[in-house]
Amino acid sequence: MNPALETLVMALQEHRVEGGEVLFMGAEPHPDLPPLLGWQALKPLADACEVAGMELTTKPTGKFSTVLFLPGKTKEEALAGFAMAHDLLENGGRLVVAMANTAGAARFEKELGKASPLLFSVSKHKCRAFAVSNVEPWEGSLLSAWRDLAEPQKIPETSFITQPGVFSAKHIDPGSLLLAAHLPVSLRGNIADLGAGWGFLSHVALEKSPNISRIDLFEADARALDCARKNVTGNVHFHWHDVTKGLPETYDHIIMNPPFHTAQSKDVDLGKAFLSVAAGALKRNGTLHLVANRQLPYEAHLQELGLRSRSIAEDHAYKVIFAMK
Ligand SMILES: C[S@@+](CC[C@H](N)C(=O)[O-])C[C@H]1O[C@@H](n2cnc3c(N)ncnc32)[C@H](O)[C@@H]1O
Repeated sequence: MNPALETLVMALQEHRVEGGEVLFMGAEPHPDLPPLLGWQALKPLADACEVAGMELTTKPTGKFSTVLFLPGKTKEEALAGFAMAHDLLENGGRLVVAMANTAGAARFEKELGKASPLLFSVSKHKCRAFAVSNVEPWEGSLLSAWRDLAEPQKIPETSFITQPGVFSAKHIDPGSLLLAAHLPVSLRGNIADLGAGWGFLSHVALEKSPNISRIDLFEADARALDCARKNVTGNVHFHWHDVTKGLPETYDHIIMNPPFHTAQSKDVDLGKAFLSVAAGALKRNGTLHLVANRQLPYEAHLQELGLRSRSIAEDHAYKVIFAMK
């Protein structure tokens, strides 16, 4: 279980407030949480919440007496989340945040404390849980700077829209750029983009290959998919979907820059699961176009899956792999 979540639950038990509506931003299931409304942008975690019987929303609105918050990985996402939580608190409500020490918990606690005096801070499991209230107004200039961070932003010198927290929010991923340069102009029929992020690869594929009939973008992060809706136009379909659970149909071509991180840690099995799902969802003679860090052992896995593969380009960090079913 996520140790930050354990620390959050422990802090709630120590500093209990009875009654009132509770919202959990970045929700994850835990048996000792009070009844609450959850908000979770990542599909695998949202699915886990649902299985645990948590009520979920895709867009929190209204006012809550308590907002719980497990921030994601980036600084901007955490600070924008503080502002969002503030705006969802009823007068006199409190925000309780929990983070791993390695994610900068002490730094963020200090930052939040500049907006409003800390109510408490609990350290356990190499994590911190800390709380503020909105009995007094928060420091105005900080709050508005944090609100600005939540606004969609443009990647410089492009028209691509992203937002804090999504993969490669500030620049086009260099691995994806390498794959884009080696995508053929001959893609045709129905394409799937697995782990489509904010839509870069689909955008390039549509620009390069005029005979594409349709692209399905599959992405776990609802925020990235919202950006993709602005970045990719044409006959495209957007799926908030956990790719490891398989795909609903088969495809002529699959393109992807598969993830190999879960939260903070490396998870090569996640990348391999993407390859397995792609192999299962390709039509006969269908092709797979992917980019990966050079050290990842994907060729051997593709061979186990019965696909012929070869590396068609490499740079100091990445390799582009072409495979056929
Ligand atoms: C390396 S990024 C590539 C993003 C995008 N294709 C690009 O080129 O910029 C991998 C993407 O996979 C998504 N992802 C991670 N786990 C996933 C899962 N289980 N199902 C679907 N997408 C997932 C991440 O949110 C991320 O956007």
